[in-house]
Amino acid sequence: MLDTRPRRTFAVISHPDAGKSTTTEALALHARAINEAGAVHGKGDRKATVSDWMAMEKARGISITSAALQFDYRGHVINLVDTPGHSDFSEDTYRVLSAVDSAVMMIDAGKGLEPQTLKLFRVCALRGIPVITVINKWDRPGLSPLELMDNIQDQIKIRPTPLTWPVGEAGDFRGVLDRRSGEFIKYTRTAGGATIAPETRMSSEQVGEDDRLVWEAAFEEHQLLDLEEANHDQATFLAGETTPVMFASALQNFGIAQLLELLLELAPAPSPTPGVDGTLRNPEDEFSAFVFKVQSGMNSAHRDRLAYARIVSGEFERGMVVTHAETGRPFATKFAQTVFGRETTSVEHAYPGDIIGLVNANSLRVGDTIFTGDKIEFPKVPSFAPEHFMTASAGDISRFKQFRKGIEQLDQEGVVQVLRSDLRGDQNPVLAAVGPLQFEVVEDRMLNEFNSPIRLARLDYKVARVTDAAGAEALKGARGCEVLQRRDGTHVVLFADQWRANATARDNPDVRLDALPAGGV
Ligand code: G4P
Repeated sequence: MLDTRPRRTFAVISHPDAGKSTTTEALALHARAINEAGAVHGKGDRKATVSDWMAMEKARGISITSAALQFDYRGHVINLVDTPGHSDFSEDTYRVLSAVDSAVMMIDAGKGLEPQTLKLFRVCALRGIPVITVINKWDRPGLSPLELMDNIQDQIKIRPTPLTWPVGEAGDFRGVLDRRSGEFIKYTRTAGGATIAPETRMSSEQVGEDDRLVWEAAFEEHQLLDLEEANHDQATFLAGETTPVMFASALQNFGIAQLLELLLELAPAPSPTPGVDGTLRNPEDEFSAFVFKVQSGMNSAHRDRLAYARIVSGEFERGMVVTHAETGRPFATKFAQTVFGRETTSVEHAYPGDIIGLVNANSLRVGDTIFTGDKIEFPKVPSFAPEHFMTASAGDISRFKQFRKGIEQLDQEGVVQVLRSDLRGDQNPVLAAVGPLQFEVVEDRMLNEFNSPIRLARLDYKVARVTDAAGAEALKGARGCEVLQRRDGTHVVLFADQWRANATARDNPDVRLDALPAGGV
């Protein structure tokens, strides 16, 4: 039966520690996907390389796919897509964000805008993703709300349009003023933070004596915002020019209900997506999807490889045979799952906006398209400019076969970029990363998953440029740079520093040397 419920596919993003995991869980709890109260905040055994969700899964005994959490809320299907927390995985985050229609940005009220907040806002702007901003931790002392609004306006160059306004300063959170209805939404603290925070709505006249002073202060600021026309506008929000803002305390479940309501009301549903040739694929067209994440090594018992695809159009039915756009070959979707972990649940049907995990999808790479009917190929997510480079070699030469296989696999997953040249041969590929933690993942997985310890040695390069075949030929053997090639055939030139790259460009005016999008964006 066709599932026509509307979809909301989004990601919660933030600088580490601003409350991404707490909010994710609070959203799921509130939507009653998980019925038990309490929260997981223990960070002790959490590694940056491990999805926070895995910790959540372990602690709560629930099954969540490590790519997306799906739950129902008021007749809608919500797909919450996971993003890596650490800035070293910004390239991953960028890829994952290609799979969402909107993002929820968490900001710590005490810390304000942090480096990763700025980067992520920029990534969203680059990808045209509308952002809902949540000022979190309002239960603790923090900056003034007007100051926070100014910071967003000045540093992000995006206009904040608060939908709620805090009643009581940070640390003395009484509730919020709903700026559209003018009502006071009063919060009541419960011991231990209940799943659903008690909220009482009342008109301005009904505000009690205790809250009267702070209410009036909030009301004045709200009128000030009115004068500045800092009010929500759906068109500019969708265009990424404004960001609706709300105030919350995820830890106490304050504001979580409002966030869910806002997602239903404001966040965009899956929309038509252009292919590389400009043709639009509408959600109601025949099936199409693109791969945004490839993962393996989740089950040590057998070599599994999952390709996560976001459905762009049509209905997915398990068992259907689709075409792999890049090779033109058929791909049988006999095994597809939405949720895995402790249990594996296969997905029978899925719809635009949903995320499916395709099992044993050895031919599928990040960025690939699968479809039925008219051919469509979605644009590839661009690679970031790597800034860290290492040569890799097998730590145990008798395991060279495993070494080669592991490197190949990690390359396909996009864990690092693998660069090769005839000069270095298969034995010594260059690994390029946006952040150094990516190398730790490589070391760990090579040893534990591919049984081949890896030896890494730092290379003295910092800058990468892309050139064409003619440029690669011209620069072969040139001083101060090295020409290598990516798996997809792209020629990459490495330089010790910016100065060297500029000098080479000046000395070789006919050679194309393009910069890649910066990892820090
Ligand atoms: P992240 O995924 O963005 O990294 O953040 P996470 O949710 O893990 O939250 C980071 C810390 O901030 C956690 O504390 C969490 O409890 C706390 N936190 C999240 N939301 C709120 C909030 O609304 N108010 C307050 N006061 N704190 C909040 P922790 O020190 O890592 O753990 P714990 O020892 O406090 O449990």
